[in-house]
Amino acid sequence: MIITTIKELRTYLDTHRQSGKTIGFVPTMGFLHEGHLSLIRRAKAENDIVVMSDFVNPTQFAPNEDFESYPRNIEQDEQLAVGAGADIVFYPSVQEMYPTDSSTFVEVMGDITKVLCGASRPSHFRGVTTVVAMLFNIVQPHRAYFGQKDAQQAAVLIKMVNDLHMNIELIVCPIVREEDGLAMSSRNIYLSADERAQAVVLNQALLKAKAAFENGETDVQKLIGIISGKINEAPLAHIDYVNIYEYPSLKTTEEIGAKALAAVAVKFGKTRLIDNIILKNKCN
Ligand code: PAJ
Repeated sequence: MIITTIKELRTYLDTHRQSGKTIGFVPTMGFLHEGHLSLIRRAKAENDIVVMSDFVNPTQFAPNEDFESYPRNIEQDEQLAVGAGADIVFYPSVQEMYPTDSSTFVEVMGDITKVLCGASRPSHFRGVTTVVAMLFNIVQPHRAYFGQKDAQQAAVLIKMVNDLHMNIELIVCPIVREEDGLAMSSRNIYLSADERAQAVVLNQALLKAKAAFENGETDVQKLIGIISGKINEAPLAHIDYVNIYEYPSLKTTEEIGAKALAAVAVKFGKTRLIDNIILKNKCN
């Protein structure tokens, strides 16, 4: 069932909450693929009621980005979401979420939002935390599900929930990939056949760094060199960033300690793809 207004959603959820049902929440921007569906299935396994939001959030796109052209297909989304176990698809308009007099933002400060995607998309995380805080206030879920695909987003949202003492459990789920290793993304549809074929290099480069790390290489600059070198073998790939930070703090490090995040953003034409891998010391 699709619900488009906050009032109607609250009425529906209040009834279930009062009868002791647990609510799982999966925020998305729609154009669903297996990555999104894996979150819905997990939410359904762990909660009585599952709400998925389907909202292309304007405040997380910069003026030069793809807000207008971001792929949308609500009919297909509803079918897929319900098939995976969603009870409600919340599909508000921009006006419903951001009435014209809306002027409040939620922003996580510090390195965590400045590095990686925060460096190339300076206003992005402010938009993400604002809309997710809003959605949390509307849905008031017991648990909310996010993908490791957007590892920095997950780390920022965990920080927001902790800092604002929100009573919500965040669950981060594994990256779902195509058979050749490309991380599923709504933006993969933009890729030409040649770009799609070469896009596997993101995952290959990260796996190469993981293998080097597991063979004893802990020098961050050397590992970054391995990743960049592999990506640059793909002629259509243009690196936006390749970096490694401590995880989940996203603090700078020269040597990998217990747990680090290796993350890449690569442009193929106008399409910007991201991927990442966790490098974890087996001794810890
Ligand atoms: P969107 O890109 O639609 O992603 C919705 C959720 O699906 C995110 O938690 C994302 O990490 C997860 N996801 C995407 N691709 C995945 C994959 N291949 N495997 C596993 N999970 C995957 O992320 C957003 O929307 C927005 O920023 C949002 C949080 C909804 C706020 O507007």
